[in-house]
Amino acid sequence: MIRKAVIPAAGFGTRMLPATKSQPKEMMPVVDKPVIQYVVEEAVASGVTDILMVISKGKRAIEDHFDRSYELEAQLEEKGKADLLASVKRISSMANIHFVWQKELNGLGDAISYAKYHVGNEPFAVLLGDTIMDSLGDPVLLQLIEQYEMTKASVVAMERVSMDKVHRYGIIDGEDVGNDLFKARSFVEKPNAADAPSNLAIGGRYIFTPEIFTYLEQIDRGVNNEIQLTDAMRMMLQDHDMYGYVYEGTRYDVGNTLDFIKTNIALGLRRADLGPALEDWLKVLMANNRI
Ligand code: G1P
Repeated sequence: MIRKAVIPAAGFGTRMLPATKSQPKEMMPVVDKPVIQYVVEEAVASGVTDILMVISKGKRAIEDHFDRSYELEAQLEEKGKADLLASVKRISSMANIHFVWQKELNGLGDAISYAKYHVGNEPFAVLLGDTIMDSLGDPVLLQLIEQYEMTKASVVAMERVSMDKVHRYGIIDGEDVGNDLFKARSFVEKPNAADAPSNLAIGGRYIFTPEIFTYLEQIDRGVNNEIQLTDAMRMMLQDHDMYGYVYEGTRYDVGNTLDFIKTNIALGLRRADLGPALEDWLKVLMANNRI
């Protein structure tokens, strides 16, 4: 059972400036929900009941979003807007949500190390707070949990990327053990295409056994002078098996402008109340050569 999840959401949204000058990138709306709500919903739909968000200064809007808003609830009730009221109440009751503040932005590995005392001695999930995973089947985190239940080892979501993109990701060197599962031999963060052991990229969802914290304490600063989670994973491989799983689904890194626009269109098209009108409009836009 994976009960706990950690959502790192402390980084500056530099790639999305100026939109993120005074609001967290995780609060950017996709269709009509902030990005981080999709992430929390994926965790909850996968059986997680307890979520720790690692935030920093300037992320107050995230706290407010997951808190109750009595005034808003009272107003919606008074106006008889039952559906909206239910959706607003659900946000604050989906899971037990906790916050911890990363004191300096020293990288993803450093952010995860803040979860050590909260997580304790049990396996847990990590979901990047600026990444939406869209799946028509099981939620991507649940797909990883199913792999964890079989292997009883840490398992990370993997996605094939083209070689010209490997330098943006953590990359796995792994042995194909069938059914989309790879037994890891090594992990490397943001390699050049020439040095990359494969094109299997780490996609922003992880299940870790609690030993990861020991390795996070031991690693030095890596790529971009940051404490890299991938470096701790590589060190952990010396003592523990780990796996990569090629999930079914589409990853949207919403901290990147093009992906942000694509996510809005893809998830907007999926919505019964918006999709048909959006599709018609897109067809007209393209037919008129306005793009
Ligand atoms: C982080 C991880 C990287 C992973 C990526 C997925 O990098 O360090 O291993 O592949 O997320 O989005 P970042 O995007 O923060 O540079």
